[in-house]
Amino acid sequence: MPNILTLLLRWPLPALMAWAGSWLVYGFLQRAGVTLWLALSVATVAGALLSVLAGTFWRRIAVAAGFPLSLLLSGAVSLPAWAWLLPLVIVALVYPMNTWRDAPLFPTPAEALTGMATSAPLAPGASILDAGCGLGHGLRALRSVYPQAALNGIEWSWPLRALTALRCPWARIRQGDMWAADWSVHDMVYLFQRPETMPRAVDKASAELRPGAWLASLEFPAEDLKPTAVLRTVEGKPVWLYRAPLQRIR
Ligand SMILES: C[S@@+](CC[C@H](N)C(=O)[O-])C[C@H]1O[C@@H](n2cnc3c(N)ncnc32)[C@H](O)[C@@H]1O
Repeated sequence: MPNILTLLLRWPLPALMAWAGSWLVYGFLQRAGVTLWLALSVATVAGALLSVLAGTFWRRIAVAAGFPLSLLLSGAVSLPAWAWLLPLVIVALVYPMNTWRDAPLFPTPAEALTGMATSAPLAPGASILDAGCGLGHGLRALRSVYPQAALNGIEWSWPLRALTALRCPWARIRQGDMWAADWSVHDMVYLFQRPETMPRAVDKASAELRPGAWLASLEFPAEDLKPTAVLRTVEGKPVWLYRAPLQRIR
């Protein structure tokens, strides 16, 4: 049975909630007497943050741009034409360009990693990195299977990084580029990215992972590697496990 979060994330509900939320914030700030600029900025930021809940890239753009566009069309305020670039800047902050190449914001399902500790055992205190940790769903799923691990997340987007730090106070979250991060200090690097990302991840993992460390990838296999194990707990979301030294098959 779908849970309440799944229902709330069903399109177009995220859009309607984000637009209504932005208008509420805007109306409240206007009544509180704050300047037009501040009210517009805060309401746009609220909409842009909520836009990460919309599934695809173009939906997120539609959600994030919805409030300023509706404000513009309503004629409620008159601003210079360049001022309407503000939402674009805000969307770029929430979802920076270079992450568009890697993976849009899709979360790890809560149950997807069940059984992983048996297939890829880790000692208590082992260090795990969620490379591109988004809103922390992967970290939460990892914590449920490795409750004694030291969990780390790196995320390119500043707002997502901040939200994940709130959602996962037991993990060490930082903003940064996962490709520039040092993977050699971790006992497991967890990825939920895109098929196109995997060859680069294989090269980096081959160069950096210590013998015995794990590369784990949700959904997308490393086509060049022989998996040590594959978990198939959630339909359509296999977990591909590779233990270093990684074994190339081509
Ligand atoms: C599909 S989401 C997965 C989120 C999380 N790992 C999970 O499984 O729930 C991919 C995330 O990777 C982030 N990302 C993509 N490229 C990145 C990079 N080069 N450095 C850091 N984060 C990146 C994106 O911003 C996005 O939040």
